[in-house]
Amino acid sequence: MNDRATPPSLENSAFFMPFSMNRHFKKAPRLLARAQGVHYYTPEGRKLIDGISGLWCVNAGHCRERIVSAVQKQVAELDFAPTFQMGHPLAFEFADKLASLAPADLKRIFFTNSGSESVDTALKLALAYHRARGEGHRVRLIGRERGYHGVNFGGTAVGGMVGNRKIFGALVAGVDHIRHTHDPEKNAFSRGQPRHGAELADDLERLCALHDPSTIAAVIVEPVACSGGVLVPPVGYLERLRAICDQHGILLIFDEVITGWGRLGKTFGTQHFNVIPDLITTAKGITNGTVPMGAVFMREQLYQAFMTGPEKAIEMPHGYTYSSHPLACAAGLATMQVYEEEGLFTRAAELWSYWEEQAHALKGLPNVIDIRNIGLIAAIELAPRAGAPGARALDAHIKAFERGAYIRVAADIIALAPPLIIAKSDIDQLFEIVREVLKTTD
Ligand SMILES: Cc1ncc(COP(=O)(O)O)c(C=O)c1O
Repeated sequence: MNDRATPPSLENSAFFMPFSMNRHFKKAPRLLARAQGVHYYTPEGRKLIDGISGLWCVNAGHCRERIVSAVQKQVAELDFAPTFQMGHPLAFEFADKLASLAPADLKRIFFTNSGSESVDTALKLALAYHRARGEGHRVRLIGRERGYHGVNFGGTAVGGMVGNRKIFGALVAGVDHIRHTHDPEKNAFSRGQPRHGAELADDLERLCALHDPSTIAAVIVEPVACSGGVLVPPVGYLERLRAICDQHGILLIFDEVITGWGRLGKTFGTQHFNVIPDLITTAKGITNGTVPMGAVFMREQLYQAFMTGPEKAIEMPHGYTYSSHPLACAAGLATMQVYEEEGLFTRAAELWSYWEEQAHALKGLPNVIDIRNIGLIAAIELAPRAGAPGARALDAHIKAFERGAYIRVAADIIALAPPLIIAKSDIDQLFEIVREVLKTTD
């Protein structure tokens, strides 16, 4: 027996894994050692199709040569440079590149290191914007049930996933939530946007009546609530939310950490839905997942509101040591080049109907109670086992790993969102594995 046949036990490892069942995982680890294109490889060399782009982030596929070499070159040239009262050229170049891709006039960019930081930055920008224009009484932030906006205090507070909130105290004061849009009784097995539920946006009017709209700074929603179970907005819903915000002077923030960078067949989800928010939060695919980075896009009017005081004053007392880190900027510039040259911003639109057919072909398999899809995203919802919510999908996740696919599950929902470079034959293989898994999961 050689060393590779008996990997060291991880049972006593020091690593406190995030969002994981530590003890369960460490007894039977599922390790990924290498990646290329749409595949991961285990330490033993077993090949897995990546059904969720790493963690909704590797949109151009793994270990892309252009991105890898851009990062390698950059780390040897300028490893770090601050952007507090100093600068480095790549930060300005990357911001301008992003501005050239931005929808409408959302062309001012604040850099962060993650989706969570983008969300907290956007919330702070919204509050500070109102204050700068003399409406400091707008202090409330509104999220949505089942929303996921990362794990920092602001994002946890506006988020609406109970399990992520309940053990962390009172979170942030002045936060409220509109109701979620999931209505399986009316909308099960919808293809694309469900038909029923535009009126759910009127729940914002309820909160306006309760708190008075003059106290509300911003509403934040994901155009498609992905981590909360792939909840696709009903036809007309986002438009209605925009109209209500306009009517009451409330800023609308779209959290596009997942829906950005081609996932819905356009550069941003905003462009797919044709609804323009005031701020957009991004991360993940901005560097194809290679180097942590996030960015907040804001409308010109917001940026200009900050540019009014004395010139020798800091306009925004906020930022991170690693905001616009040189490695992230290099990775991001190379990533945008790959997306553009390979047409990846629109690839999900080309694959859409094929993907949709393959996903909905799983209807009728045991325990499947809903299938939904949009862009290159699909969710298969399973009936929970009596008294054991989440157990059925966890079994499916483990069986898929054994059969050669990495899929993501949340509660009893399987989520799929592979790299945008995926070939139709890989899509077939991914769904074939999911089909076999569902057939054998009781
Ligand atoms: C919509 C949304 N916002 C924020 C985040 C948090 O991003 P990060 O994990 O990079 O902090 C995520 C992560 O999945 C997300 O899906």
